[in-house]
Amino acid sequence: MSTNASLIARRSAAIPEGLSRHLDIYIDRAENAELWDVEGRRYIDFAAGIAVNNTGHRHPKVVERVRKQLDRVVHTSFQTTPYEDYVEVCERLNAIVPGDFPKKSLLVSTGAEANENAVKIARAATGRSAFVAFSGGFHGRTLMAMSLTGKTVPYKAGFGPLVPDVFHMPFPIAYHGVSEDDSLKALERLFASEVDPSRVAGIVIEPVQGEGGFYPAPFGFLRKLREIATRHGILLIADEIQTGFARTGRMFAMEHAGVAADIVTMAKGLGGGFPIAAITGRADVMDKIPMGGLGGTFAGNPLSCAAALAVLDVIAEENLMDKAKQIEARLRATFDQWKAGTEFGCVGDVRSLGAMVAIEFVTSRETRQPWPELAKALTKAAGQNGLILLSCGVHGNVVRILTPLTIALSLVDEGITIMEKSLHQAISTLGG
Ligand SMILES: Cc1ncc(COP(=O)(O)O)c(C=O)c1O
Repeated sequence: MSTNASLIARRSAAIPEGLSRHLDIYIDRAENAELWDVEGRRYIDFAAGIAVNNTGHRHPKVVERVRKQLDRVVHTSFQTTPYEDYVEVCERLNAIVPGDFPKKSLLVSTGAEANENAVKIARAATGRSAFVAFSGGFHGRTLMAMSLTGKTVPYKAGFGPLVPDVFHMPFPIAYHGVSEDDSLKALERLFASEVDPSRVAGIVIEPVQGEGGFYPAPFGFLRKLREIATRHGILLIADEIQTGFARTGRMFAMEHAGVAADIVTMAKGLGGGFPIAAITGRADVMDKIPMGGLGGTFAGNPLSCAAALAVLDVIAEENLMDKAKQIEARLRATFDQWKAGTEFGCVGDVRSLGAMVAIEFVTSRETRQPWPELAKALTKAAGQNGLILLSCGVHGNVVRILTPLTIALSLVDEGITIMEKSLHQAISTLGG
């Protein structure tokens, strides 16, 4: 029988080092918000496969629908011989993505691929080439998605030259002294000094920066961006890949601001664990690419479409948007105490939008100096104590909580208890 240790050794020999290695726990099976490793140890899941298992691991309705699909057809390639579920996923996305205008959708397989297609569509629709994105943003690992990403190490360093005509501006983060106004002024400067707005095809933004550190964009800022984009004929592109599908307490995070983007990219939570991604946008924009300009062999695979239809049902039937807010409240009740108290002076900031909850660790609350070593030690200790936790942030000093939205609240409490114990251990490991 395989053990974690034997698999670590086999991995080192077989798989390149560039694939990051977070925890040395090899998973054997999973159910809703719990995982078991190959040695039978149980873990509570506060990561949800990086915001994928919003509907939990192997939700019975997702499994049932996929199983039925397995018995009918597994792959044809939609471009050659289409099938109904692809059409239905698109119809349902057109109905739920914000925006009171006709929409069309395209299905692909990954988040990066969704962003690549959003760029192609925006360029074809506007006849312009430039894009504005944000420092700290993350949009994927393919060449264009990597160029839009606003973090060099490990995502861009060594992989250049990047795609030209991508400009980054500061994301408004009050905790780090960047106000909405600072950001908007930087955009004005960018338009005046680097790229005329008449050359800009799209502004690409995550409504809550995910990998960058779980920073929600202020709602007023999103509304201003909408105005600026409209004024200059620029398409506003919302990357809802991490924030979508009930994660933030609404179906999509942009809804909190009452803003409709021209193009929305989605992935992760849509498939309930099956690989599927989507681009939904204004019908007139989406139709600008001539036939054959879009597609992909596996894009909108029948199993993934079946899963997505079940996921959309489960989100509605189980009221997962409300559940996201309950999870948020449960986590914040403890984390806010940590932030207010003196026991954990390393807790610099606590923030959330729905069930996207984060703690930013600092060496001192006064200097706000990032403490990435603590975030790393905490996620490691938590893993040893039976809790899967992820870090994030441009400096790697943020611990993010992304539970399945189907998690029992009692399990959230159990996870918090493990986090507290692990935080004490991590601090003492670092000599704090
Ligand atoms: C906001 C955002 N965009 C894009 C991506 C890339 O998605 P994928 O890994 O499916 O290519 C991610 C993945 O973490 C993401 O969080």
